[in-house]
Amino acid sequence: MQNNRKRFLRQLGAGLMIPWLPSIASAAELFNTPIDSNDFEKDGKADDEKYWKNIARKYYSVSKDYINLENGYYGLQPRPVLESFEKNIRLANRDGARFARKVYPELSASIKKSLAAFLGVAPEEIIITRNATEALNIAIQGYPFKEGDEVLINQLDYFSMIEAFRLLEKRGKVKVNAFDMPLLPANEDQIVEHYSKMITARTRVILLTHVSNINGLIIPVARIAAMAKAKGIDTITDSAHALGQVKYSLPELNSDFVGMNLHKWIGNPIGAGVLYIKKERIRELNVLFGDVNTAEDNIGKLAHFGTTPFAVNMTIPDSLAFHKLMNIEKISARLHYLKSIWVNELGKLPQVEIVTPRDLSCAIASFRIKDKKVSEVADYLYKQHSILTVNRALGKEGCIRVTPSVYTAAGDIDKFVVAVRSFLS
Ligand SMILES: Cc1ncc(COP(=O)(O)O)c(C=O)c1O
Repeated sequence: MQNNRKRFLRQLGAGLMIPWLPSIASAAELFNTPIDSNDFEKDGKADDEKYWKNIARKYYSVSKDYINLENGYYGLQPRPVLESFEKNIRLANRDGARFARKVYPELSASIKKSLAAFLGVAPEEIIITRNATEALNIAIQGYPFKEGDEVLINQLDYFSMIEAFRLLEKRGKVKVNAFDMPLLPANEDQIVEHYSKMITARTRVILLTHVSNINGLIIPVARIAAMAKAKGIDTITDSAHALGQVKYSLPELNSDFVGMNLHKWIGNPIGAGVLYIKKERIRELNVLFGDVNTAEDNIGKLAHFGTTPFAVNMTIPDSLAFHKLMNIEKISARLHYLKSIWVNELGKLPQVEIVTPRDLSCAIASFRIKDKKVSEVADYLYKQHSILTVNRALGKEGCIRVTPSVYTAAGDIDKFVVAVRSFLS
């Protein structure tokens, strides 16, 4: 156990070893939650309740007051990450400006390095932002649109990005073309075809929401981006919900502009996102946060943010290390399994409409009930059964989004199914 613990701590990133603050003794001190890497080295099959219960019990503090099926908002930090965060807050607070001026710049470079390595890109191609909204606004508002350019969006994109494009449209910079994506495409080919069909001679940018926040649909970004590129069209990809939930390779996405979150599925403290821009494209982007001193081809020109949430960023290497230990394949398989339990069960009921294709989604799926207001259903689940879901705007009827996480027990999904059945009875 002790050896495993040491091994785990070695895996944890540079953020922990802070030699310039000698009174913080050793990395081991930073954790109160004992970590046994044996917990993670087992198979961890998607339906192995014992395995996942053990992880949830040992490494997460989950409220027992209600069943949280609204993990799409943000993910809970694993306990070791939370403890690291708390230590980082204390470090930054105790050492004040000396820390910020003498220590943080170097530390910041190493944080970026470990994040870039995790993403499989160069540190010179990413900036750390406060969230995906900020990251994507920098790309959307900084994109060098020319007169007559059009952008392509659809109803399953995230509203903040739609708003950002609508704002540009209001300012006369672009024309927005919106189409309705079918809620239940049969396969990836159909999705690619829908984007392809909507392209006009003036389409300059397509917004690609990798995993929809509305119904969890996963789109084949790499294929759509390749198709678009072949026609000279750029893609701006919103991977806010994809990073950490589904396995993908950022360089292989084929998208030159990608915004991501670290506080949804990576488990970092809230307040961290990432913007990736392919090296050769940085020069073209206009700056949103004023900066004329930084070189045009230096991504730093886009990150003139002012004072940084030091502790949030310092915790990134530890969040990534814990996420790696959990293993993305195991995480995705578990999430898909939990989602499938309720989708399979409720999908049998004639009154229930599932608005997510089961096999083109991961953790997130959504439903609605014939002739019932979605807010009424969500309120009932919360008030009568202490189950938190969220209703989302989708067409006239809306939908109820259900999002389990790695710390959700299959038994809680069963309780949700029982609760929906009782609403119908
Ligand atoms: C698809 C998608 N994009 C972007 C965001 C924005 O994330 P944040 O609020 O952390 O900026 C969200 C948040 O839920 C989302 O679901």
